[in-house]
Amino acid sequence: MEVSVLIPAAGNGERLGLGPKAFLRVGGRTLLEWALAAFPEAAEVLVALPPGQSPPQGLRAAFLEGGRTRQESVARLLEAASLPLVLVHDVARPFVSQSLVERVLRATQAQGAAAPVLPVPDTLIRSEGGAYGSVLPREALRLVQTPQGFFTALLREAHAYARKRGISATDDAQLVQALGYPVALVEGERTAFKITYPEDLVLAEALARAWNGSPQAR
Ligand code: CTP
Ligand code: MG
Repeated sequence: MEVSVLIPAAGNGERLGLGPKAFLRVGGRTLLEWALAAFPEAAEVLVALPPGQSPPQGLRAAFLEGGRTRQESVARLLEAASLPLVLVHDVARPFVSQSLVERVLRATQAQGAAAPVLPVPDTLIRSEGGAYGSVLPREALRLVQTPQGFFTALLREAHAYARKRGISATDDAQLVQALGYPVALVEGERTAFKITYPEDLVLAEALARAWNGSPQAR
């Protein structure tokens, strides 16, 4: 797979409160190990770690120091990427199937930028003064996941544009979109959820047991 996998893993996991997520263990391995296992055929894997963190030994990846925000961490990873395609994947999403990676990669090759998305299952409202406010039509709304794929040159341009204009974003597709370039959508996966809050860890532990024994997942 002639692609650079970029893993922003430099966050402090503040909402979870258990330190940097990269080193958090789920089902007997760290979230960083889970993330690497999702890309067994990647020609290059680059990981941004929290400043001052010494890189773990024995992993098939190169390490660099992340920035103050996710966007800065990805910008640094992008500088180091040496292949024409990149897949950017949050370390906080351990359960990524091979078919999801393939879908994202195919759409990226065809269209230059791709992100996995899911429909929103719950009713969405605006909270107004702490009370149940107006309902938001959810048909066109999507939850955005990673891995997201891009032509490396395009994502570099999008990051440079954002830096110049002071745009900050929580994912990379947003920056490409802000540049005026369309991002293709592919079907995401419920299991590729981001471990953000303590309850997510309980779900992840349970899923890790099923995942390890699931041949189609890996
Ligand atoms: N990230 C990063 N560099 C930062 C901040 C975040 O590389 N300065 C990464 C995280 O490691 C994670 C991804 O961005 O893989 C998504 O972030 P999130 O779920 O918000 O993780 P944290 O920032 O670690 O958590 P929190 O916001 O609760 O502190
Ligand atoms: Mg964060």
